[in-house]
Amino acid sequence: MGVLTSLLIHLFLLLQLQTLVVLSQNIVNGSVPVRESLTASESQQFSSSWRSPSGDFAFGFRKIKQNDGFTLSIWFDKIPDKTILWHAQVNTSTGLVPDGSKVTLTAAGGLILTDHRGHQLWDSSLSLSSGSVSRGRMTDSGNFVLSSEDSPDEYLWSSFENPTDTLLPSQSIEVRGDLSSRRTETNFKKGRFMLRLGDDGDVQLFTLNSETLEQSDTYFSYYASNTKDPNPGIQLVFNQSGYMYVLRRDNSTFVLNKGDPVSSRDFYHRAVLHFDGVFAQYYHPKRQGNDNNSGWVLAWAVPENMCEKTFGPNLDANELGNMACGFNNICILGHNQRPRCECPERFVLQDPSDVYGDCLPDFEMQTCGPVNNQTDVATANTDVNLYELVTLEGTNWPSGDYKRYRNYDEEKCKDACIKDCFCAAVVFGLDRVCWKKKFPLSYGHRSKTGDSYTLVKVLKRAADVPVNGKRGKNHEWLIIACSVLLGASAFVNFIFLALYRKKSKSKKKPNQARDIGAATATANATALELNLRVFTYRELAEATRDFTEELGRGAFGIVYKGFLKVSGDSEVVVAVKKLDRLAQENEKEFNNEVKVIGQIHHKNLVKLVGFCNEGQSRMIVYEFLPNGTLADYLFRRPRPSWEDRRRIAVGIARGILYLHEECSEKIIHCDIKPQNILLDEYDSPRIADFGLAKLLMMNQTHTLTNIRGTKGYLATEWFRNSPITSKVDVYSYGVMLLETVCCKKAVDLKENVILIDWAYDCFRENRLDDLIEDDLEAIDDMETVERYVKIAIWCIQEEPGMRPNMRNVTQMLEGVAQVHDPPNPSPYSIISCD
Ligand SMILES: *[C@@H]1O[C@H](CO)[C@@H](O)[C@H](O)[C@H]1NC(C)=O
Ligand SMILES: *[C@@H]1O[C@H](CO)[C@@H](O)[C@H](O)[C@H]1NC(C)=O
Ligand SMILES: *[C@@H]1O[C@H](CO)[C@@H](O)[C@H](O)[C@H]1NC(C)=O
Ligand SMILES: *[C@@H]1O[C@H](CO)[C@@H](O)[C@H](O)[C@H]1NC(C)=O
Ligand SMILES: *[C@@H]1O[C@H](CO)[C@@H](O)[C@H](O)[C@H]1NC(C)=O
Ligand SMILES: *[C@@H]1O[C@H](CO)[C@@H](O)[C@H](O)[C@H]1NC(C)=O
Repeated sequence: MGVLTSLLIHLFLLLQLQTLVVLSQNIVNGSVPVRESLTASESQQFSSSWRSPSGDFAFGFRKIKQNDGFTLSIWFDKIPDKTILWHAQVNTSTGLVPDGSKVTLTAAGGLILTDHRGHQLWDSSLSLSSGSVSRGRMTDSGNFVLSSEDSPDEYLWSSFENPTDTLLPSQSIEVRGDLSSRRTETNFKKGRFMLRLGDDGDVQLFTLNSETLEQSDTYFSYYASNTKDPNPGIQLVFNQSGYMYVLRRDNSTFVLNKGDPVSSRDFYHRAVLHFDGVFAQYYHPKRQGNDNNSGWVLAWAVPENMCEKTFGPNLDANELGNMACGFNNICILGHNQRPRCECPERFVLQDPSDVYGDCLPDFEMQTCGPVNNQTDVATANTDVNLYELVTLEGTNWPSGDYKRYRNYDEEKCKDACIKDCFCAAVVFGLDRVCWKKKFPLSYGHRSKTGDSYTLVKVLKRAADVPVNGKRGKNHEWLIIACSVLLGASAFVNFIFLALYRKKSKSKKKPNQARDIGAATATANATALELNLRVFTYRELAEATRDFTEELGRGAFGIVYKGFLKVSGDSEVVVAVKKLDRLAQENEKEFNNEVKVIGQIHHKNLVKLVGFCNEGQSRMIVYEFLPNGTLADYLFRRPRPSWEDRRRIAVGIARGILYLHEECSEKIIHCDIKPQNILLDEYDSPRIADFGLAKLLMMNQTHTLTNIRGTKGYLATEWFRNSPITSKVDVYSYGVMLLETVCCKKAVDLKENVILIDWAYDCFRENRLDDLIEDDLEAIDDMETVERYVKIAIWCIQEEPGMRPNMRNVTQMLEGVAQVHDPPNPSPYSIISCD
């Protein structure tokens, strides 16, 4: 399934990014006579492009599906993704031109681009004195050139001298020359970033005001080649062999490449200023090998970290603008030095189609006035009691400070912000310094190693405000819910069945007769409060193509892959969980529970997108995570890196801690196992299926016997008449932590291994290296391996009271708390899982 999924994702991405390529027409040796024209057309019949003699490059119109328009461009014509390397910068909202637009080669004006009504949109401005154009030519180096009859080797205009965001080998930039980024990957309007070789000889990357985009009005530079006086740069050269360097006045060079580039005979090269501000050089094999379909490979990129604004000596006062992500957005450095952005909890994108844009609060922000007037009822945004702080781990906002407190502890720092109506957030670090921040926040970034964290002030959810009497009665329900999930032994079932019966007597009978209209109305109200989307059955049937592609099966039903239309033509992939175990008369509870789950946001938990509650159909829609389950990840070979496994172990612990202690309704997961941990595109772990134990509760008990528990991860109290607490998750986590350290399954019948017993034996006999075998990275880090194994053994103690809670576990994992040698986890008995 993993392979199929990834194939489908690739196919999907290809379709998303892929643009329709128009057909070519025979132009001799790439030479184009005057009056020749090309037309942008939906039907390929009338479209065409002008190709270079070798066929490597083509000039023409490209259809951009997402934004429903065409761009006049030059692209690599022989590689599958036909990467665009130049485009005409047109002043329209998406930088694209409509169907029917036409480009004509004229003697007087060179290339002239008009729309379907004949209005001119763009032209190649020729230098005046140079006579008339006789021909255009698409060259084998990727340059489209215009020349006159008299001097065919002097160009009246060339794409190399009018670059947009890309440079090719043999292209260079002179003093005052620049590149400008696109707005987004598919919006070809000028974007927020610029590369320029300045008068002072320095090559710099700049940010601009994203609305005016005045080239002269740059905000700040975030990279500099430092090639100024006394020996300034006079040219930025990308030479034939793929070297990029600043040529200085004395003919010495400052080379940007890291190491030597691959041969330009066998590889294409390009350097591009991405829409997210990263300037990067890539190479791509000219011929597609049988197995090397790798696409573009990164050679080098600047800046090192596009998420972190470096405050230069003269720049620290300048806090205008942003780096890669908009205001209030958080930047995370991903693959290939490329940044991605994530709105903080309780914030949403201003423009949902631009994830690099600004984030707005989904609540009314606190304001400082008007001063409370005794006759007024306190309004939400002036009453300090209505706000709380949410924690953003590893996140820092280096700007926007207005007050600093030294030697504060977390509580004092929080308190200072809660009581201050100016305070939008506080950043608190290991150095015990507390920084108060004002809105909007800029340059936010998050990293795995970040030792500061942010507390952002948000309006409490309605359910958290104490007037609501709903809280507190959930504990017993949870116990029952967990047992329903497990049902591994008839004895357990019996006990909890009895308990459930007893409880349900005191509950009011749900209203049996209820029309769908009313149910839908309540569903909508629920969703509105939460920004969850309510789907009709039909919508989800369409999205999942009638429930055809199965992603997995769980205790609750089948999960299907779906594609939801968002704005315009674009789609997002979702996972639709079709619940098959819920009785139909419980619409209200269903809505309440979905509401609870929908309120839970944490970076290590899978996000809920919406739900469907129509007649007998109950479905929950989650974000789709492309990289499969932790089970697939851990047990594959070669094994994933130790560094990644450590990161994942910590992430999962944080997710569980959040469920246990930090969200408004405490949740015991009851079914922690690697199959329930999904990995996002950056291989960060996300816990799935949390809260579903409670949903399942609403079911009639007759289905209990159908439900299977998950052997090997079950704490012993399930088999005894002991109370079920959050320590059952700690136990399961301990088993999974061992699996993560060893990349071995908890119970491997083939190899006859019970991991927890073996691990304890290895620990006791001081031969931990047996556990990790030939994992060199882990061997290099035995200290951590030992710590993790000890933590795991603490977690799997038979006696729940001996197990640490999740907060202790995370502290021990992070090295903040000491880990003592654990005792034998099962001193009394061997409990069989059967
Ligand atoms: C095309 O170019 C090649 C090499 O530049 C030349 O030998 C050939 O004569 C050209 N053909 C035409 C039709 O111009
Ligand atoms: C782009 O178009 C807008 C609105 O049509 C216009 O106000 C603006 O001046 C144009 N910019 C340029 C550089 O032509
Ligand atoms: C390109 O630049 C590198 C480094 O300056 C140099 O070694 C190489 O010879 C150059 N190649 C060409 C074709 O000029
Ligand atoms: C740099 O090289 C160019 C061309 O090779 C030459 O004309 C010029 O004199 C050189 N300049 C210096 C300062 O060496
Ligand atoms: C595929 O790529 C790898 C690394 O880039 C290289 O070592 C290998 O020789 C390539 N294989 C083929 C068949 O080109
Ligand atoms: C208090 O509220 C009353 C009625 O809403 C208003 O007339 C009055 O101006 C307010 N006083 C202050 C100091 O805001």
